[in-house]
Amino acid sequence: MTSHNLHLRAACAAAIAFGLLTLAHADSASLSPRTVLPAYQQECGSCHLAYPPGLLPASAWRRIMSGLDAHYGSDASLDAAMAQQIGAWLEAHGGTYKRVSSAPPQDRITRSAWFERKHRRIEPAVWTHASVKSAANCAACHGRADQGDYEDDSLRYPTGLDARLRGAWNH
Ligand code: HEC
Ligand code: HEC
Repeated sequence: MTSHNLHLRAACAAAIAFGLLTLAHADSASLSPRTVLPAYQQECGSCHLAYPPGLLPASAWRRIMSGLDAHYGSDASLDAAMAQQIGAWLEAHGGTYKRVSSAPPQDRITRSAWFERKHRRIEPAVWTHASVKSAANCAACHGRADQGDYEDDSLRYPTGLDARLRGAWNH
């Protein structure tokens, strides 16, 4: 297969996965709106990256924002005005395309059916590797995750990952 074909195939896969979202952002590969609310970046990007709002439906964001005191084992509480501002922005930019139409278990992006399918080739030992630790740590493998870019061509190997565990990157 030529590299042109490979590129086309990746573009098609992304288009199929993100359907409407891709249409809405036809000028970029990003899953985030062009302008990210500074408060979201600041308050929700300190413990992990500020996940693209389009990866969860509004209903999941609403639940997450109303339970910040018991947030996946952490206390991520915000004052009411800040929570209200961020919550409204997340709901306005929540995913509306088919793959994201219902909330995944625990409102986790990483428990979404599309997520599990896209990552099915990754060896179990990769998820627990010291430089990954969690599937939620997108940036360990997606070099431009902080910019909302999860395209195949910005993938990287987690630091120190044994060559034998790199199959999913090289298929
Ligand atoms: C005090 C640290 C902290 C802050 C601040 C924080 N989070 Fe989290 N968040 C966590 C932890 C810990 C997890 C679980 C990560 C894991 O399973 O590896 C998590 C997980 C998540 C997940 C699920 C990731 C997955 O598995 O798909 C979402 C979505 C999320 N946070 C959104 C937010 C939002 C929105 C905010 C801002 C209001 C926020 N977080 C602020 C600590 C934090
Ligand atoms: C341990 C490394 C790793 C982590 C962590 C990871 N990914 Fe991935 N991701 C990959 C690999 C490798 C692929 C390509 C798999 C394949 O093509 O078989 C991929 C594919 C994808 C794709 C499909 C890209 C395309 O063009 O089809 C999306 C979207 C994606 N990941 C999003 C995420 C998000 C969002 C997170 C965090 C919540 C995340 N990933 C965490 C390694 C990872």
